[in-house]
Amino acid sequence: MNGIELLPERASNFAEEMDWLYFTLTGLTILFCLIVFGSVLYLMVKYRAGSRVDRSNPPHGNLKLEIAWSVIPLLMGVPVFIWASKLFVDMYTPIPTESALPIYVVGKQWMWHLQHPTGHRENNELHIPVGKPVKLIMISQDVIHAFFVPAFRIKRDVIPGRYQTAWFIATKPGKYRLFCAEYCGSKHSEMTGWVYAMKPADYEKWLKEVRWGMGAGQRPETMAEMGEKLFHVKGCDSCHKPDGKQAPNLIGIFGKQRPLADGRMVIADEAYIRRSIYDPEVQRVAGYKAIMPTYVGRLDEQEVLRLIAYIKSLSIKPMENRQPQKEKTND
Ligand code: CUA
Repeated sequence: MNGIELLPERASNFAEEMDWLYFTLTGLTILFCLIVFGSVLYLMVKYRAGSRVDRSNPPHGNLKLEIAWSVIPLLMGVPVFIWASKLFVDMYTPIPTESALPIYVVGKQWMWHLQHPTGHRENNELHIPVGKPVKLIMISQDVIHAFFVPAFRIKRDVIPGRYQTAWFIATKPGKYRLFCAEYCGSKHSEMTGWVYAMKPADYEKWLKEVRWGMGAGQRPETMAEMGEKLFHVKGCDSCHKPDGKQAPNLIGIFGKQRPLADGRMVIADEAYIRRSIYDPEVQRVAGYKAIMPTYVGRLDEQEVLRLIAYIKSLSIKPMENRQPQKEKTND
């Protein structure tokens, strides 16, 4: 519209439907405003003081009219509610890690720290391939932030102490704004960045070419490899051995049910592993003594994410353990 952008670009699988929902809601609001204020104006003018109208026998009720103005808006509103709920659930139901490219996000005052499973680390920039589901696993190191990419119509609070997930498929290569959408302190407005959606071949190239100060042919350590190192350095392996005598064996547990000492069953997901590291007693596995110390203050959120990546790698063979392939372009 002559250079005035009404909406940000549509660059994800959700964008178009989100916009249609938005247009529908706006349309319905305008329609009802017109009906209500139109009627008010009409009646104001018609029955103004001094106008010559029939004021005898004023009606005190009209059942048909009342049913109509209750039922018709209900029939218009409920489908919108169902539509919006469905879209919301689609967007915020976590998708299985195996079927997506996981990106680990740590928000802190005042920057975004993003890490790829391949070990590539970025600050306030995120490179992703188009056409492939991307799953964000996000946590804050301090206060509440919100990860907001308008072009993807993705906005999710990033909270201390809890993993939040969101997912999307970028549909259009380009450079898009990343914002923090939750007031998080004096430099909240500077907590911005860019998302680069790239063709898959360009993304593979980027993974290979960005060497993070290393020599040609070298690659950064993957998150799982970094986690494996931590596992030894922090002494996790002195108790967590494959024989599972002193502490639970961690091979193959990710995504599985864990029977707890208090009788509950929980799924060993990211949140479970993080809690087990920071607050081991809360979800202690049945059959083991409470000997694990808390690692609060000894491991930061990024280190915990690396340990999680390592424990995951012992269980599944997801895309995240895959190294950038040799030049295998599909376009
Ligand atoms: Cu972080 Cu606002």
